[in-house]
Amino acid sequence: MVTLTEPRVLQKLDGPPWDIDAYLKVGGYEAWKKCVRELSPEQVVQELKASGLRGRGGAGFPTGVKWDKVLNHRVKEHYFVCNAGEHEPGTFKDRHLLKTAPHQLIEGCLIASHTAQAKASFIYVNHEYEEERENLKRALAQAKERGFVGKNILGSGIDIDLQVFEGHGSYVAGEETAMLESMQGRPAMPRQKPPFYPTDFGLYGKPTLVNNVETLCNIPRILYKGAQWFTQVGTEKCPGTMMFSLSGAVNRPGVYEMPMGITIRQLIETCGGGVPGGRKIKAVFPGGPAFSMITADQLDLAMDFDSLKKAGTGLGSAGVIVVDDATCMVRQTLKFSNFFKGESCGQCPPCRMGTINLANLMTKIEAGEGTQKDLDSLLQLCGFVKGTGYCTLVTGASVLVQSSVKLFRHEFEEHIRLHRCPYPAAPVDTTVH
Ligand SMILES: Cc1cc2nc3c(=O)[nH]c(=O)nc-3n(C[C@H](O)[C@H](O)[C@H](O)COP(=O)(O)O)c2cc1C
Repeated sequence: MVTLTEPRVLQKLDGPPWDIDAYLKVGGYEAWKKCVRELSPEQVVQELKASGLRGRGGAGFPTGVKWDKVLNHRVKEHYFVCNAGEHEPGTFKDRHLLKTAPHQLIEGCLIASHTAQAKASFIYVNHEYEEERENLKRALAQAKERGFVGKNILGSGIDIDLQVFEGHGSYVAGEETAMLESMQGRPAMPRQKPPFYPTDFGLYGKPTLVNNVETLCNIPRILYKGAQWFTQVGTEKCPGTMMFSLSGAVNRPGVYEMPMGITIRQLIETCGGGVPGGRKIKAVFPGGPAFSMITADQLDLAMDFDSLKKAGTGLGSAGVIVVDDATCMVRQTLKFSNFFKGESCGQCPPCRMGTINLANLMTKIEAGEGTQKDLDSLLQLCGFVKGTGYCTLVTGASVLVQSSVKLFRHEFEEHIRLHRCPYPAAPVDTTVH
C-alpha cells in the first residue's frame, strides 16, 4: 500500500474521528485560533491566494479568488455553505473525509464562514450519508462544548452558528445553485447563469461562499503550515494533493490522497494494485462519467486539472473509474447513460428529452436491435444537446457517448452487425438512480 508523507492534508488520528482531543493533538483548531486572534480575513485570503489552492468540487476554481469576491462584495449580507452533496458514480472522497476528518472539515468551515463574514453557515450533506451526518453532528457538539463554535468564540466576540443541513439525495442537488434552491424549500434545480453565480446571488439572493468538502479540509492545514508548505507537492498551477476515488477494475479500490500530477498509471498500479486477474486496461474515466475516457496508451497522463483538460478530458472531482478488457463498452456506457437519464431534473427540455433519447438509443444498440442510422442519430443528438441546459448534466451525458463512440466505434458496429451484444450476458443496470 502507498503512503504519502508530508505535506498531506489528511491527518492520522490517535482516536475515533469525532474525538476532538485526538484532533487537537495533531494541531487541530490551531489555524482557527490564529484566525480568531491574529489574522484578518484579508490576510487569510492572501495566504490562500499564495497557496494556489483550487476547488476540489469539480471546476478547479481558485479558492482565494472566490473568497475575495465574497468578502469584498458591495452587498454586505453574506452566507456560507459547504457542499457535501456528493452523488456522482465513482466519487466517494467527500464521504471518506466526512467519516474520517469531521473536525478538520468543521475547522475549514469556521475559517471560511468567518473570512466571508457570513451571517449564517451550513454544511449541506447528501441525504443518503446518514452515518456521516451523525458523526459530523457529534463532532460539532464537541467543538461547541470547547468554545470553537457558537457565541463569543474563544472570548473574541465572534459568533458562528454552523448547522448541518440534510440535503437532497440527487446528483443535480450537488450543483451549487440547485443546492441553494433546495435549501430554500424549492425543487433542487439549477438556476440559469449568468448572472446568478452564488458569489453574487446565492442563498436568499445574497453573496454566498460555496466550497467543496475537500477544498475546506485543505484550509486549516494551509493556514497552520503556511502556503509554502502546501506548494511543495503537486504541479505549479495545481499545487497540493488530491483525494482520488479509485474504483472499477482494480485490486484495491479506495480513496487515495496523492500529489496533483501523479500519473494515471501510478495511481492504478501503486495505489490500486493493478487490474485483477491479469486483465488489461481498456479505458479509464479520469474524472467520472461526465468527462471523456482515455485509453491504455494514455496512462502516463498527469492527473491535474490542466493536463487532463489539455488532453481533451477533465479531472472533475477525481472519481477515477478503471474499465478492463472483459467489459463491453456499449454496456458500460449504457449504464452511465441511464444514470444521467435518471438524474436529469427535467427543468431544461434538451436535457430532459436528450438524456432519455440517448439512453433509449444506447439500450437499443446494446440489445442488438440498433441500426447504423441509430448510431448516426446518437451522435447527432449529442451534438444538438451538448452545451445546453442550466447546468452541465446533459453536456456530461453527451461527452460520455461521444467519447465512447470515438474510442470504441468498432464495438458499437459489432453490436449492430451481429444483432446482439458480443460479450457474455450480464444484467443491464437500468435502475433510475
Ligand atoms: C451536476 C453537478 C453536480 C455537482 N455536484 C457537486 C457535489 O456533489 N459536490 C461539490 O462540491 N460540487 C459539486 N458540483 C460543483 C459545484 O457546483 C461547485 O462548483 C462546487 O461545490 C464549488 O466548490 P469548490 O470551489 O470548492 O470546488 C456539481 C456540479 C454539477 C454541474
